[in-house]
This record gives sequence, structure tokens and C-alpha cells, in this order.
Amino acid sequence: MTDKPNRSHGRVAVRPTLVPRPLGQADEVAGVWTARVLTIFPGMFPGPLGESLTGTALKNGLWNLQPVDIRRYARDKHRSVDDTPAGGGPGMVMKPDVVATAIDDVMQAAPEDRGAWPLIYLSPRGKPFDQAMAERFANAQGITMLCGRFEGVDERVLESRRVVEVSLGDFVMTGGEIAAMALIDATVRLIPRVLGNADSAVEESFSEGLLEAPQYTKPQLWEGRAIPEVLLSGHHARIAEWRAEQSERLTKERRPDLWRAHLAKAGAADPVEDQERSDAHTIAAKGENKD
Ligand SMILES: C[S@@+](CC[C@H](N)C(=O)[O-])C[C@H]1O[C@@H](n2cnc3c(N)ncnc32)[C@H](O)[C@@H]1O
Repeated sequence: MTDKPNRSHGRVAVRPTLVPRPLGQADEVAGVWTARVLTIFPGMFPGPLGESLTGTALKNGLWNLQPVDIRRYARDKHRSVDDTPAGGGPGMVMKPDVVATAIDDVMQAAPEDRGAWPLIYLSPRGKPFDQAMAERFANAQGITMLCGRFEGVDERVLESRRVVEVSLGDFVMTGGEIAAMALIDATVRLIPRVLGNADSAVEESFSEGLLEAPQYTKPQLWEGRAIPEVLLSGHHARIAEWRAEQSERLTKERRPDLWRAHLAKAGAADPVEDQERSDAHTIAAKGENKD
């Protein structure tokens, strides 16, 4: 978010708003990170994003939110955005002509470079969203998100408009809006000044590829459970060491995938795999000795 050119998208910034309005009427704060959300339920926004830190930051003009109603781009009198699936099957599919017109309109003012302004479709088929992706998105100038409904979107739009699919996880929701909100929340909190204490984002889970160490607060003794003594010692180096150990322990126990990735990044061998290799070697050697 630093050293970015100021961009106005052709609009003069007057005041930020929490009230979703059609594109072209909404006021934007120039030069701040902007989320444009293509949805058939614009009234769902800002929803939870209008509360707490993200809501305050939105009111203070630290980021922009523009929900855009896809139905505005429908051509028939019923404002249809979906039709029956080719080849048969249950449900409906979002129409390529309507969705493409909506995408083209909202992407008009965005930079050509998709790294500077990603265009994504929230989809269970997509690349799983993670902290690294949130960091990339936060470093862009903004993002356009397409929220699917029904059985999803006609494949040809995704191909022709070079839309990148991003998933919130291996489960299926009724629409992309909640996924878009989760993604915006995780991204917006990385924007400078959105979090009160910038360090809190640095020390969190995933920021170093590891899960965060356990957290405690007063009272010192609660239901017979004490806060680990080291945290009350005031000894910063020992506290940091304890947190690092806990962070490693939790990651190893709960997310061996993250632990392996962490070790690979650090160029270290994986002790678990090493042990497995060594066990396999011992078993094989014993087998050989039998003969
Ligand atoms: C009912 S789902 C469609 C699921 C689709 N037929 C499939 O099997 O992949 C409707 C919409 O919800 C959104 N959605 C559902 N699950 C999601 C997930 N795990 N991550 C992101 N978006 C999701 C997508 O935008 C999708 O188009």
C-alpha cells in the first residue's frame, strides 16, 4: 500500500459511504484500496464489514467498498441473470453476456495489470485463499470480486475475462458474498492504519508461516488455571523464546503441512520425514538381515 500512485478512477472523492449504491453514483475516497463486488445481493454489503475495525476504517476513508448489482446489466424486462444449464442438470447458471457486461463496466477504470487490480471469482474450485494471497491483494490498488449464485457462472466468461478463481475452503456455500466478505476482511486489516497496532498483524498466525502462540489475559488464576509464569516474568527475550516454541509446537501438532512448508523455506530438513525415512531404513535393514 505504500508508494502507490493516487488514483481517482475518474471520480472526485468527497465522502466515504457505508450505503451500497450503484456504480457511478457512489462516492469514493481517491487513492485508497477499493473492493468492487459484483453480486445480485448488493444489500448484503457492507454487512459485518461495516462494524468494528473494518467499519471504522471504511468510515474514515481508509478503503472503499462498492457493491455492484449484476442485475443492472441484465437486458430483459425481468432482469434475468441466469438460465438453465447446457446439457441438463439441476439449478441455473449465471449468463455469460450479463456477467461479462458487468465485469467490463467495473474493470474499465482498473489498471491493465491484474497484479495491480486482481479480478477474482469466489468459487469452491478456486485456489484456497490464504494469508499470502491477502498480502498480495492488500498491496494491489484494489480488487474486483465476482460472487456466484445458483450453480455458478458460465465458464466462457471466466476464460474470456481472465478471471482467477479463489476458494474460501473445501465446502460449498449458497453464494460468493460471504466468501468475498471474509476475503475483504482479511485483506483490509493489512492496510496500514486499519489495525490500531501495526505489530499485531506481524505477529499473527500465518504471518511467519506458523500458527500463533497461545494468548492469555487477566485474571492471573482462572478456574484453577494459571497463566504460564514466563509471560509474567517481564523478561522479553524469554517471552519471545517461549512464544516461538509454542508457535512451533502448535504448528507441528495441528498443521504438519504448514510446518513442512516452514522448514522447506528455512532450508531445514523435516525431522518427521527424516524419522520416517530412518524407520523405513531400519525395517528394511532388519528384513535383509533375516535372509
Ligand atoms: C452453490 S455454489 C455453486 C457451486 C458449484 N456448483 C460447484 O459445485 O462448484 C454458488 C456460489 O457460491 C460461491 N461459493 C460456494 N462455495 C464457495 C467457496 N468454498 N469459496 C468461495 N465461493 C464459494 C461461488 O461463488 C458459487 O458460484
